[in-house]
Amino acid sequence: MYPAIDESAVREAARVLLSGGLVAIPTETVYGLAADADNREAVLATFAVKGRPTNHPLIVHVKSAEALPFWAKDIPQSAWLLAEKFWPGPLTMVLPRSERCGTFVTGGQDTVAIRCPAHPWVQRLLAEISGPTMKGFTAPSCNTFGRISPTCAEHVLADLGVKPAGKLDYVLDGGRCEVGVESTILDLSGGRPQILRHGAVTREMLEEALGVPVPDAGDAAPRVPGTLKSHYAPATRLELVPREAFAARVRALSHIKLAVMASEECLAGLPGNVVLALKAPKEAAPYASFLYEALHELDGAQAGRILVERPPQGAAWAAVNDRLGRASA
Ligand code: TXA
Ligand code: MG
Repeated sequence: MYPAIDESAVREAARVLLSGGLVAIPTETVYGLAADADNREAVLATFAVKGRPTNHPLIVHVKSAEALPFWAKDIPQSAWLLAEKFWPGPLTMVLPRSERCGTFVTGGQDTVAIRCPAHPWVQRLLAEISGPTMKGFTAPSCNTFGRISPTCAEHVLADLGVKPAGKLDYVLDGGRCEVGVESTILDLSGGRPQILRHGAVTREMLEEALGVPVPDAGDAAPRVPGTLKSHYAPATRLELVPREAFAARVRALSHIKLAVMASEECLAGLPGNVVLALKAPKEAAPYASFLYEALHELDGAQAGRILVERPPQGAAWAAVNDRLGRASA
């Protein structure tokens, strides 16, 4: 459950955004680093703050599907259908960009990624700023490039922070993100839909809605920095260990401090060199919701190694396995 909306905080966030400032915003997936998507300077400042290369495209966050024609063109029927079904929510769609959408948003590409976030605070914020031209904001995850994405305001404050000591103009604290991993990204700019990034809207959900197969994008897909191998990585080395090998791996590493996340079975009777032991949620949705918070905690435990019991496979676990795979790369 999210905290009740603090109207004056949301109005302040809107004011800062519209005057070209950078605002950390809560979404249902992860915290975003928001800038007015029409303001070239503000958008470019987000790249500098994150330390992210400027040729990496950003997602434009909008109030509703009504905004689609303001930011995209040649919108296929499938986009309307998916917006109807999954917006507001953790689905981002890549479409041909409109004239209005600057190439400073799209990293020079002729397509734009658009999403309508569901978090109630951000829905209020978008209602506040969007106006007749359906203004929106760009928002990469609110973390230093390559670090773990933030799922609460504390993560944001510990990483980027607020001016003058930190880098942000304002932090809108809307509580813990319920989904916990970044949105699903679906490319609808080509002939057929392709998944660029897995998230809470699963392949099965997309295939059911569209009635066609929705494959992963191949190597020819557009650049997606979230798919860099080393993305989402904690500073401490992380190993993914199958359940049957867990006890033996812990014994083999008896000479170093360990931070672990595993099922109750694996956590029973751990030796003293395990300095932090987190219980892994059994279901995919609560696991995803907890994942980044867990990685932040495991990384902060001053251990020499992080061991995570490999979660189940299957469509519902695709986003979790994807992020863990990268974290262990
Ligand atoms: O859940 C989310 O999507 C979060 C919250 C804050 O909304 N945002 C997020 O943004 O994850 P970011 O910048 O960390 O990841 C955006 C991803 C990148 O991997 C980027 O390459 C991809 O979207 N992307 C953006 N525009 C694209 C485009 N035109 N074509 C292909 N990929 C694109
Ligand atoms: Mg990111």
